[in-house]
Amino acid sequence: MTVRPLAAAVAGQGLVDPIAPLVAADDEGFARGRAAFETLRVYGGTPFRLEEHLDRLRASSVRLGLPDPDSGELRDAAQVALACAATKEAVLRLYWTPGVPPEGPRGIALVSAVPDWIEPARARGQRLVSLAYPRRSAPWLLPGTKSVSYATHIAAESEAKRRGADDAVLVDLDGTVLEGPVTNIWWREGRTLLTPSLELGILAGETRAVLHDLAAEAGYDVETGTYPLERLVAAGEVFTSSSVREVMPVAAVDGRTLASREAAAALQTALRRAAGADDS
Ligand SMILES: Cc1ncc(COP(=O)(O)O)c(C=O)c1O
Repeated sequence: MTVRPLAAAVAGQGLVDPIAPLVAADDEGFARGRAAFETLRVYGGTPFRLEEHLDRLRASSVRLGLPDPDSGELRDAAQVALACAATKEAVLRLYWTPGVPPEGPRGIALVSAVPDWIEPARARGQRLVSLAYPRRSAPWLLPGTKSVSYATHIAAESEAKRRGADDAVLVDLDGTVLEGPVTNIWWREGRTLLTPSLELGILAGETRAVLHDLAAEAGYDVETGTYPLERLVAAGEVFTSSSVREVMPVAAVDGRTLASREAAAALQTALRRAAGADDS
């Protein structure tokens, strides 16, 4: 079921009706999926790592051939939308789309509730299945870019569900581990956490970056590189990371059950503390 947003604002215009149409039918962002977006978590009314997400929005816009987003106006739009939303724990989406003449590019800030399936999934752990996704070898498939053309990512998630899992882990044709459709992937070998290198064309996850910094405090080393799927499947523990799902334990990969949650639990606590989340 689609849950409608709580509040929305258009950059340079201010608050708008969150369920009114905000994009013209001939805007390429709608018509051809050529627009950039960001999804971030809001804790206690404050968006977590907003500046870093605005930087990534700019990088995605460059790759998509869009003009630079107006970060100031997007920041303001996020602020007014958040002030209007009736919750301080939320998901904030920022869109940057080419728009139509004479207005030109359009920035939109959308505030939604945190999906209620996440905490039960965290308690259970997610089952992953590996699916091929050869984006790394084809730069025209926009590696590392967060564009609204996410239909293939959603299709991968649906295929994973069709195969009896909860989500996918995407691997290149040679079996190199990449990322999830909307997450980065991690695993633990002893006291070392491994995650694929950004050079593989995966998205530079903001949560991935934060966990990288928090891992040492939690007593883990981090190693990035190019790893075969067998290495992930043989790991003692696997988890995913994303702004919305935070640190999500994995209960099974390709049918192999994983019981350990120690690193995922420690990093989830550390992440929420770093984000200023109120867990009292
Ligand atoms: C393909 C992909 N990888 C990784 C991530 C995780 O990124 P972040 O931690 O910035 O949410 C996302 C988030 O949407 C994603 O779409």
